[in-house]
Amino acid sequence: MKILVTGGAGFIGSNFVYYLLKKYPEYKVVCLDMLTYAGNLETLEDALKNENFTFVKGDITDRDFVFDLFSSEGFDVIVNFAAESHVDRSIEDPGVFLKTNILGTQVLMDASREYPVKRFHQVSTDEVYGDLPLDRPELFFVEDTPLHTSSPYSASKASADLLVLSYFRTFKLPVTISRCSNNYGPYHFPEKLIPLMISRALKDESLPVYGKGENVRDWLYVEDHCSAIDLIIHKGRVGEVYNIGGHNERTNLQVVKTILAELGKPESLIHYVTDRPGHDMRYAIDPTKIKEELGWEPETKFDDGIKLTVKWYLEHKSWWENILNGEYQNYFDKMYQDR
Ligand code: NAD
Ligand code: DAU
Repeated sequence: MKILVTGGAGFIGSNFVYYLLKKYPEYKVVCLDMLTYAGNLETLEDALKNENFTFVKGDITDRDFVFDLFSSEGFDVIVNFAAESHVDRSIEDPGVFLKTNILGTQVLMDASREYPVKRFHQVSTDEVYGDLPLDRPELFFVEDTPLHTSSPYSASKASADLLVLSYFRTFKLPVTISRCSNNYGPYHFPEKLIPLMISRALKDESLPVYGKGENVRDWLYVEDHCSAIDLIIHKGRVGEVYNIGGHNERTNLQVVKTILAELGKPESLIHYVTDRPGHDMRYAIDPTKIKEELGWEPETKFDDGIKLTVKWYLEHKSWWENILNGEYQNYFDKMYQDR
């Protein structure tokens, strides 16, 4: 079995690479990644020592390059993680989100038609469903909840989902789609809530909470996302969408306070800042379909996963400090100054 993991130098893709190499020592795993600001070869240092793993630097929107790669490698399965993934950046500059997330997916699917694969799996997000109100806790996203996006990021992911389903119906491409809730864990880029708060709290810097901090996210430990995708690519039905989430809803303020307690830092570090435009209020996944059809169960509860995550960031300071010492500071100043 030869699997192409696009975006494998990013947060979830790299965790998936390690998951595959450990669980299937006989599989060949190829990572295609452009190494944007979010991609990091240091993350794949251990994988690169494995003879069944190959890293290829390249852009999923580069049609000739992608077709050459598919022609020479002959992949069985494609798992497409490659994307622009940060909502705040999509509000600043939507163009690259449309290019990578929509056109990049199209190029990969065209190559999968030309050089047939057994499965094309699209890694999507619960953000395609829009948001839920705080005063209706009984509501959850199910697979046929209408798509109703809020940000250029989520609109680009929803567009890609529709394109993927169209390739199934029109061209019989054997596709699956997963829509997962917010992930956290090792190798999470420190522009996102949890690693941003951990890395700043460790330096006794202020913690920028958007609005009142009452928005709710449904947090899933990244390894549980990997195990769900593993089940879908091996046993999922083609043409189907599977929601992934483990009922770990928390307000942002609860998350930040948990991190502060774990690090023994004061709540006075919290600093309320201007809200994100169009900020989604609540995400909550109903994972019944993947549980009943594929027997998937998440293993890590939020209270345990956040401890593991804080520990990982404490033990891997050089990984995130290298990031903070690069272009990141300009990003942070641009996004948070005057906020
Ligand atoms: P990330 O930003 O950490 O990583 C994205 C990776 O894609 C990076 O390594 C980057 O270099 C690569 N990439 C970007 N543009 C590329 C291009 N044109 N060609 C090749 N590689 C390119 O993202 P993540 O958080 O790991 O998310 C991975 C996927 O999972 C995304 O599709 C995202 O929409 C989806 N997702 C993320 C979450 C989450 O909580 N992070 C939840 C659900 C779904
Ligand atoms: O739900 C899945 C999605 O989760 C993925 O599709 C996205 O790729 C991923 O980035 C994530 O999107 P969010 O917008 O939910 O994640 P983020 O970490 O950016 O923000 C989480 C919450 O925290 C959100 O309500 C905004 C808030 N926040 C975020 C940052 C970066 C703050 O209050 N302060 C911050 O500095």
